Amino acid sequence: MTNSIKIGVAGCGALGSIVIDALQKGIEGFDFIGISDITNPNVHAPNMSFDDLAEKCDWVVECLPPKIVPELADVVLDKGKTLIMISACAMLLYPDLYEKAQKSNGRVLIPSGALSGLDAVAALNCTNIDSATIATTKPPKGLAGAPYITENNIDLEGLTEPKLIFKGNAFDAAKAFPANVNVAATLSLAGIGAENTSVEVWADPDIKGNVHKITVKGGTSTITSEVLNLPDPSNPKSSQLAGYSIVAFLKKQVGKVQIV
Ligand SMILES: NC(=O)c1ccc[n+]([C@@H]2O[C@H](COP(=O)([O-])OP(=O)(O)OC[C@H]3O[C@@H](n4cnc5c(N)ncnc54)[C@H](O)[C@@H]3O)[C@@H](O)[C@H]2O)c1
Repeated sequence: MTNSIKIGVAGCGALGSIVIDALQKGIEGFDFIGISDITNPNVHAPNMSFDDLAEKCDWVVECLPPKIVPELADVVLDKGKTLIMISACAMLLYPDLYEKAQKSNGRVLIPSGALSGLDAVAALNCTNIDSATIATTKPPKGLAGAPYITENNIDLEGLTEPKLIFKGNAFDAAKAFPANVNVAATLSLAGIGAENTSVEVWADPDIKGNVHKITVKGGTSTITSEVLNLPDPSNPKSSQLAGYSIVAFLKKQVGKVQIV
């Protein structure tokens, strides 16, 4: 790569910090320009508006609450730049965003996040996928405050055994748990779409982390993949692997030999 890609990070919480730390240590092919966050994070880099970040950068990494994503995506895509989007749920929650990405000169790239097995899902999708399911199990505090929990007055405190909290498709899961099941959105976008992707959300008082198990069946293969992620200490709804999936994706952009 001859010219470095100018890159910035919007949102400097649990996941953004992982990406910023890696960029500040240096990722070949990238020039770290700055950040955008409404707080004043302890980051030695210029903190600027979404508009300025999109103007100054070629690529912007999104690590924001899902409801803020359209605001950032609008300015990045309007300028024909590339958005690395970790809040995959936003693609399902705000369908205009998908349309906008199709029409703009920019791009939206969604990393694998907290999920494992997406490489095989993408390959199988080149032939056919008959069914795709994901079961997500989290400790109760990893689901606390989600719209589905509060609207249905679900008491997560007194659980003594695993409980199935939600069953539906990925669209409904995105609305019910916008900050908790990005993995379901990512699987649906990599596979057979949100309406055809089945999602279960479990709360387990004894589980040590966030577990995502996918089962994807198609003509040539049956894929099962399970990952146990320790929750991020600063945000138990998020798994650090999601931040590292962004770093891994950036590292794949250069190098003579790569596993893609
Ligand atoms: N794809 C995946 O597998 C996956 C996994 C975990 C988390 N996520 C998603 O990634 C996103 C980031 O997660 P996190 O754990 O880092 O969140 P976080 O809450 O730790 O950090 C969010 C940051 O955004 C900043 N922010 C909020 N509003 C802003 C605004 N208007 N302008 C600028 N900055 C603003 C906050 O100050 C904070 O620093 C979330 O949407 C989360 O649901 C995706």
